[in-house]
Amino acid sequence: MLTVPPQLVAQIQASDVQGREIIMVTGSTGGLGRAVALAFAGPGTHIIVHGRNIERGQAVVEEAEAVGSTARFLQADLGSLAQVRGLINTVKRDYNRLDLLINNAGIGRGQPNAPREESADGHELRFQVNYLSHLLITRELLPLLREGAPSRVVSVSSGAQSGGTIHFDDVMLENPPYQGSAAYGQSKLAQVFMTLDLEEELQGTGVTATAVHPGGYLDTDMVAERCVVPGDGCTPNLSPEDGAMFVVNAARSPRSGVYFNTSVIGEINPQALDTSARRRFLELSMQLIGLD
Ligand SMILES: NC(=O)c1ccc[n+]([C@@H]2O[C@H](COP(=O)([O-])OP(=O)(O)OC[C@H]3O[C@@H](n4cnc5c(N)ncnc54)[C@H](OP(=O)(O)O)[C@@H]3O)[C@@H](O)[C@H]2O)c1
Repeated sequence: MLTVPPQLVAQIQASDVQGREIIMVTGSTGGLGRAVALAFAGPGTHIIVHGRNIERGQAVVEEAEAVGSTARFLQADLGSLAQVRGLINTVKRDYNRLDLLINNAGIGRGQPNAPREESADGHELRFQVNYLSHLLITRELLPLLREGAPSRVVSVSSGAQSGGTIHFDDVMLENPPYQGSAAYGQSKLAQVFMTLDLEEELQGTGVTATAVHPGGYLDTDMVAERCVVPGDGCTPNLSPEDGAMFVVNAARSPRSGVYFNTSVIGEINPQALDTSARRRFLELSMQLIGLD
């Protein structure tokens, strides 16, 4: 008898998703992403929890199931494009539509002297985890989002987009001195570039794209990690659940191509409004993820 390799067996039954919104939240094993996943949890949803930590991911699945969702955990390190492609293949294999994709996983600016790090693919780590991997996920899952229309892509950016710059001459920030804050700002601005491109491309399809700053400092690991001295510019003033409400608000908005600064439409960094800069950046990004 032929045995089917386990990786080819769909883990989801039709009854798990029938009549439910299918919602994928990257980086939902903890922090803001967990709070967002649980804000959507209930009898009408199927939640795809993602991250690297299996135990924390499974705990979020159980919390979502306890309030009536069906849910599952998918593991992938966004610092590896091979793992990102594996994640995409699993989602494409097991689902034929997606109602909501929340691009949330991220690495913060780190401590002031944090060294430059690279992904498994040799890219500056924040650029890849916060932006490039999400570009690949979003682009590859667009057919499922189109099937789910009206459907939405929400990218959790940051107020740091406003002070960020896309460094066209050194996008991988190889020229010293390396600054985590510049890397973070660039990656968060890149998400805004992506949002505006998607809005343009997806007009008339019923798929919308927004970016959101979820407030801060949220009481999460990301904020704790950047503290050198307790209270030194990193004392949390909002809970992850507070931040999640702003992400839910963006996801429920009919708007597209906007950046929400918490609950109001915020100002977009002028670099992202320059269409030639956006075209140049998209070309570069698509080459980096092999979709050119
Ligand atoms: N906290 C704030 O005040 C604040 C303010 C503005 C914007 N934001 C944005 O909000 C989002 C969430 O931040 P947070 O504060 O909740 O951070 P967090 O507590 O550090 O959580 C980050 C999440 O991303 C996942 N993640 C990190 N690196 C990953 C990788 N290489 N591959 C896959 N998953 C990865 C983590 O899961 P695993 O550990 O399981 O991989 C975790 O679920 C980020 O995009 C951040 O830029 C946060």
